[in-house]
Amino acid sequence: MQKQLEEICAKALNEVENAQNSADIDAIKLEYLSRKSVLNNIKKGLKDLTPEQRPIVGAFANEVAQKIEQAVNEKEQAIYEKELNEKLESERIDITLPGRNIPMGKIHPLTQTVDEIVSIFQGMGFTITDNENSPEVETEYYNFDALNFPKDHPAKDMQDTFYTKVAPNVILRGQTSGAQIHTMETKKPPLRIISPGRVYRCESVSARKNNLFHQIEGLVVDKNITFADLKGVLNEFTRIYFGEARPTRFRTSFFPFTEPSAEIDVQCIMCKGKGCKVCSQTGWLEILGAGMVDPNVLKGVGIDPDVYTGFAFGMGVERLAMLKHAICDIRMFFNNDIRFLEQF
Ligand code: PHE
Repeated sequence: MQKQLEEICAKALNEVENAQNSADIDAIKLEYLSRKSVLNNIKKGLKDLTPEQRPIVGAFANEVAQKIEQAVNEKEQAIYEKELNEKLESERIDITLPGRNIPMGKIHPLTQTVDEIVSIFQGMGFTITDNENSPEVETEYYNFDALNFPKDHPAKDMQDTFYTKVAPNVILRGQTSGAQIHTMETKKPPLRIISPGRVYRCESVSARKNNLFHQIEGLVVDKNITFADLKGVLNEFTRIYFGEARPTRFRTSFFPFTEPSAEIDVQCIMCKGKGCKVCSQTGWLEILGAGMVDPNVLKGVGIDPDVYTGFAFGMGVERLAMLKHAICDIRMFFNNDIRFLEQF
C-alpha cells in the first residue's frame, strides 16, 4: 500500500509539473484531492490493515496528500500570474495615443451679439417682450398703419416688403417696430422693453445687405420722457457695447412713427474718424434709427400723448456685430463657413 501511495505521489507531482493552465490544475485537483480521488479510496482501505500498520500508512497517506496539495497550490498561483500577465499584455491600452477629438458646437456670432445687447439693456432695466408681441409674419397694420405710415404713402417703399399669398395684407415684417404696437396694446405705461427678432426685406443681396437680418427694437414710454433720456440711454449703450466712450453723432432723420427722428452714428471703428473705405471716407458709421414716439402712434393704442411721452429705437444686429469684429461682408453670417464661425 505504501508503494502504491508513493507511485500516486510521483505521478501526481509529475502531472502538476507539466500542468499548463488552470483547466489542467482543476483536473489534477479532481483526480487527487477530491472526495472521489484515488487517495481517498486508499484511505477507505485503511480499515482492512492491522492496527499496527493503520497509523503508519494513514500518516503517510496524509503526508502524500499534503505534498500534492502544496505542489498544486504553488503551481496554481504561478499559472494564475502567468495567465493574468498574458491578459494584461493582450488587452493593453496605449495611453500615449492621442484622444479622439469631439468637436464642440458654439453659439452663432449673431446670437452672441443679440445676447450681449439684450443683457446691456437688461442692466438698464429693460425687459424682453414675449414672443407673441413680436411675430415675424405680420399684417400690414402692425408693420405700417399703426406705426403712422399713411395709406399708399411712398414711405412704405422705405423697406421693400415681402408680401405673402396667405392674404393680401399678410407680410413678412420689414422691421421690428410692430412690436411697439403689440406691446402697447397689451401693456400700459410705464414701459421699458426691447424686442429682438428677424426681419425681411426684398432687396438685392450685397456685402452690406441681406434679405434676412436681425433687429432689436427698444421702447420706453412713461411720464416726462425726453429726447435727453433717449440720448443718455443710447450713449450708454454704445459705451458698454464698444467697450469705450466712442464718439456718437445724432443726425436728423425721418420715420413716420417718431417725431423728431434721428439716426445715430458711431465714429468709424477702422479709421477712428479719419476716413476710410468702410465708412466711405465720412469717419462715421450708422448703427441705429430712433426718435420720440409720435403722438399719433400713442393715440392709436389708447395712450394719452398729453400725459405720456416715449422714445423708440431700432438697431441692426448684423451691423453692430460687423463693426465690433471688423467683418466686411454680411453674408459671412449666413454662409455657415465653419472657419468663420469658429472664431467667435
Ligand atoms: N424701424 C426703423 C428701421 O428699421 C428703425 C427705428 C426704430 C426708427 C424705432 C425709429 C424708432 O429703419
